[in-house]
Amino acid sequence: MFSAITLETLISVRMDRRQVLQGILAGGATTLFPMGSEGGNLGVSTLDFSPLAQKIHDTHRCAEGYDAQVLMRWGDWVLPGAPPFDPHHQTVSAQKQQFGYNNDFVAFMPLPRGSQNSDHGLLCVNHEFTNPELMFPGVTVGDRVCRINREQADIEMAAHGHSIVEIRRKTDGSWIQVAESLYNRRITALDTLMVLAGPAAGNARLRTSQDLTGRYVTGTLNNCSGGVTPWGTLLLAEENFDKYFGGDPEGLEEERTLRDLGIKGSPVHGWYRFYDRFDCTKEPTEANRFGWIVELDPYDPTMVPIKHTALGRFKHEAATVWTMPDGRVVVYSGDDERFQFLYRFVSTYAMVVGDYKANRTLLDEGVLSVARFYPDGRMEWLPLIWGQGPLVAENGFLSQADVLIETRRAARLLGATPMDRPEDVEPSPITGKVYVVLSNNTKRKAKSLDAANPRGPNPYGHILELIPPGTGRDSRHDAPEFSWEILLLAGPFEGANAHYHRDTPLQGNWLAAPDNICFDIKGRLWIATDQGEMQRERNFPDGLYACDLEGVGRALPRFFFACPRDAEMAGPCFTPDNTTLFIAVQHPGEFALSTFDWPSTYWPDFNERIPPRPSVVAITRKNGGPIGG
Ligand code: FEO
Ligand code: CA
Ligand code: CA
Repeated sequence: MFSAITLETLISVRMDRRQVLQGILAGGATTLFPMGSEGGNLGVSTLDFSPLAQKIHDTHRCAEGYDAQVLMRWGDWVLPGAPPFDPHHQTVSAQKQQFGYNNDFVAFMPLPRGSQNSDHGLLCVNHEFTNPELMFPGVTVGDRVCRINREQADIEMAAHGHSIVEIRRKTDGSWIQVAESLYNRRITALDTLMVLAGPAAGNARLRTSQDLTGRYVTGTLNNCSGGVTPWGTLLLAEENFDKYFGGDPEGLEEERTLRDLGIKGSPVHGWYRFYDRFDCTKEPTEANRFGWIVELDPYDPTMVPIKHTALGRFKHEAATVWTMPDGRVVVYSGDDERFQFLYRFVSTYAMVVGDYKANRTLLDEGVLSVARFYPDGRMEWLPLIWGQGPLVAENGFLSQADVLIETRRAARLLGATPMDRPEDVEPSPITGKVYVVLSNNTKRKAKSLDAANPRGPNPYGHILELIPPGTGRDSRHDAPEFSWEILLLAGPFEGANAHYHRDTPLQGNWLAAPDNICFDIKGRLWIATDQGEMQRERNFPDGLYACDLEGVGRALPRFFFACPRDAEMAGPCFTPDNTTLFIAVQHPGEFALSTFDWPSTYWPDFNERIPPRPSVVAITRKNGGPIGG
């Protein structure tokens, strides 16, 4: 659509806007250097730590002055009485009671419910996927689909989902699990019953031979990141659910939809060999029951999780919530695949403060929209409403249920802007501006650039800043149009990026493949990265960065935490008082040649009988105080 625009034009337009903004923020001052910066490490940023060196190690590292405690590892007990972890003799029953694999989203939910307690709460963690080659002896990346047996498939399914673990901070600042907690819970892909709610629930396309009602699903898949609602529940995002479905979509009634979501008979998990529901030839509608946002109340261990169909079906990275002054809520979510879209949901009704059960239906009615960006700095939210524009019967949409089951196709027909892999999308609780993390897109060509995706190929990714009308708590997140900026072009400080960072050389670190974000209490942005195997090629670990969003340190990241070898970083989350930062180290040792028997790292146990373990780490400042200063 904007193919005539050159990279230089796009970046210079954005730069002009940014410098005007900085001039305003600096009260009209024209200098971009703060007093006394003179090349000192702390001069341009409000963050109080010196950046780490970006080197790969077998173990993790954290900025000086901070302690990093490995708090929960794959196989640690969750349900009281869980057997001790024995990776050489793992069982389904043990795994159902233990912490799952590949921790991603992390939320700290204070106890009691509704409090701001930072010493006692529920650690809520998604388990996105499994690496059988690192979980079981004798399995490799090459044969992990065909080699695993039924029990191993079940262990993998039990290692998916979510864990809720009650934790408490000790007087020395470290964290412990609370023994015999009644809150502790495991949600799995194996046997946790969930309900479907909203406009698509009960639709014929959600019915299977196991569920003739189209309203009940066993389990959840590929829970990547998520969000927290103002009424104290969690939103868990089902992302790459296509990876679990075998069979051949050719000729099936659902073929178009299956292929649109990436299901083409080449799963990366072997479960379909034991379960017909994961074989699309045998159960062609089962896949339609995944790709939703799941709501879970961590304070209610009996709650049946809800898949909210009104929020659309795609590869949801996350779902983050903004509350409007009138109590209606806005949920942002990205579809993490190359050339997919950015979405927003606005609830029809207001939440009922204090009535968390009544609010469980709030996300069932509202308007889902998709984003279109314009080069003049405007963006528009296009409503996905059945009967409007192309979303009609002649295009195969017989009801709103069809629009929601095939959200991607509906969004394409409306002319949404294809993005460079939308990961986390999150509004700043202080300014109300929304940050859209675009991880990378090596398939974007120079001829398919647009203003919001200005580099092709884009191996490093970028972050957009969306600006709704109004400011702070009064930001109008339901407005049909926002404006936008590019916050950060990831990648080395050279070429187009030298221009971007010319005023602050060597004062921070460049980053690659931004993924999950969160905000600290001062409104600064913390950015987790996921480069995949590119971290080996770049000799550059994944980890956690932080940057200011205002002032001269704006968009200049500092490297705070380095993951161990072959891991990605996920889940950054602070306690309400900002004195503990929880992060998730995902898939340590994941590499083509790395196996249970010969892993590329033994993090975090460094015991040759124990393979690497995905783990949640709690970071505190030595002698206490807020993280980042
Ligand atoms: Fe699971 Fe898009 O990361
Ligand atoms: Ca992610
Ligand atoms: Ca990721």
